[in-house]
Amino acid sequence: MTQITLRRPDDMHLHLRDGAMLQAVLPETTRHFARAIIMPNLVPPVVTFADARAYDARIRAALPQGSTFQPLMTLYLTEGTDPADVTAAAASGLVKSVKLYPAGATTNSHSGVSDFGKVQAVLETMAEIGLPLCVHGEVTDPTVDIFDREAVFIDRVLAPLRARVPGLRVVMEHITTEEGVAYARSAGDDLAATITTHHLILNRNHILAGGIRPHYYCLPVAKREKHRLALRAAATSGDPRFFLGTDSAPHTDALKEHACGCAGCFTATNTMPLLAHVFEQDGALDRLEGFTSLHGAAFYRLPPNDGTLTLTKSATPTAFPAKIDTGAGTVTVFDPGFPVHWQVTA
Ligand code: NCD
Ligand code: ZN
Repeated sequence: MTQITLRRPDDMHLHLRDGAMLQAVLPETTRHFARAIIMPNLVPPVVTFADARAYDARIRAALPQGSTFQPLMTLYLTEGTDPADVTAAAASGLVKSVKLYPAGATTNSHSGVSDFGKVQAVLETMAEIGLPLCVHGEVTDPTVDIFDREAVFIDRVLAPLRARVPGLRVVMEHITTEEGVAYARSAGDDLAATITTHHLILNRNHILAGGIRPHYYCLPVAKREKHRLALRAAATSGDPRFFLGTDSAPHTDALKEHACGCAGCFTATNTMPLLAHVFEQDGALDRLEGFTSLHGAAFYRLPPNDGTLTLTKSATPTAFPAKIDTGAGTVTVFDPGFPVHWQVTA
């Protein structure tokens, strides 16, 4: 097959940042995606309905002319989040989920949750109204090895949390392990999991063997090859509980190529061609549309998009930009390390 047309895709986990960075990275997503779940880890974070309205307005103001892209907003869960504010935000239709960051787990997560007892009431409210909780699934206990933090989170935090709040709809964000895949598969239709493009491509050797590659460092960090293969199998399986969330997370090169580099891979620019490559390699091109355009919308109870996206394969490799310029500095576009022959042509 040399051409494939899909329903226009959705990115169910995206970092757009703010200001000059927002202005520069937004077109990289809106060129291909109709909607995206917008992560709230700004400084300060998007905590209240009012914060989400204001951020939504800034995103809409930054949209390229004529774009019909729709930001799907999230609230950042804190120990002070007010259930009534969450209810109002969901009822308005603007806010589609609440994001749980364990305090200290990742970029700008210091306002996250340490004492889960303090968020019980808001989680119960969310279960009642059917609003999904998006979960960054890593424990922050410094005695737990960073490569084990997702698996330990499932046992110590996620499973007990779901038992305490029956009916809560949960999205395990950016799963990176076979334990994450197995847990998602074992659950009912109130649980789903996003998978990033880069975790389908990278294992930890890519980050660490033969020189340290800061642009491959993200959180959760890529794991062993067997885990990457489990993610590939899940993404290409056609199981509706798995869908795309790119976790495209721009940081300037100055902050990535640093003694203490920031976590995040910037994949907005070339995600769809990379996914076509991955799905073709696994003989699953016919399942790409489910992963990028149908399963996520269904979980979020949204209609699939009307428009389409066409990917075409050519004999010559596609030339993606190495970097994009932003008013805040350059951002490196994710380089998979192999030639990709697919490109978006319509
Ligand atoms: C994200 C970021 O930079 O905001 N970084 C990352 O490595 N994925 C935060 C996150 O989703 O963990
Ligand atoms: Zn993220």
